[in-house]
Amino acid sequence: MTVLPDGVRHFPACLSPEEQRALLDDIRGVVQRAPLFTPRMPRTGKPMSVRMTNCGSLGWVTDKDRGYRYQATHPVTGAAWPPIPDRLTELWREYSDHPHPPEACLVNFYDETAKMGLHQDRDEETFDAPVLSISLGDACLFRIGEIERKGRTVPLRLESGDVLVLGGASRLRHHGVDRIYPGTSMLLKKEGRINLTLRRVTKPTR
Ligand code: SIN
Ligand code: MN
Repeated sequence: MTVLPDGVRHFPACLSPEEQRALLDDIRGVVQRAPLFTPRMPRTGKPMSVRMTNCGSLGWVTDKDRGYRYQATHPVTGAAWPPIPDRLTELWREYSDHPHPPEACLVNFYDETAKMGLHQDRDEETFDAPVLSISLGDACLFRIGEIERKGRTVPLRLESGDVLVLGGASRLRHHGVDRIYPGTSMLLKKEGRINLTLRRVTKPTR
């Protein structure tokens, strides 16, 4: 068994197949209102292989000219992001160990060839709250690195219905997705994986 670094918590099969289907319905509702878009790397404008959207008062976006940031509106439609579904807020309450509600939920869609390079989640104003991730659909090979860019990494297979928390001493650890394992889940109509990450973006005011 892989020993995970302090602050990384993995809860395999947290969501039953029924709960996964219900959450997927919620996410379909989000995507209807806030369509998936192709994010582009800062400066180069190179497209990322995932497609994404958000729900919550703020959403994470990136493009060539303005780079990584949170904003209140969809970059293509200009509309406010739809609210975070109750089911997700409930999971945050259960697993985040944090008193304030999440403000952003990034929805990443991976087709069978998509991946995500090692990176840190550091565009938030505060790192007091953890990042809570929920996986749906095909399994993936996730990778957890150090806080520094270089150094050892630990592989971790994430399956549909798993919850992963990056918090405390591991809040700023590098992480990424090496590959998707197509055909390992029947949840989605086609092959692919959805990952949801709930985040706190601003410092809470009293
Ligand atoms: C992310 O780091 O934004 C996504 C992680 C994942 O897909 O599991
Ligand atoms: Mn991330």
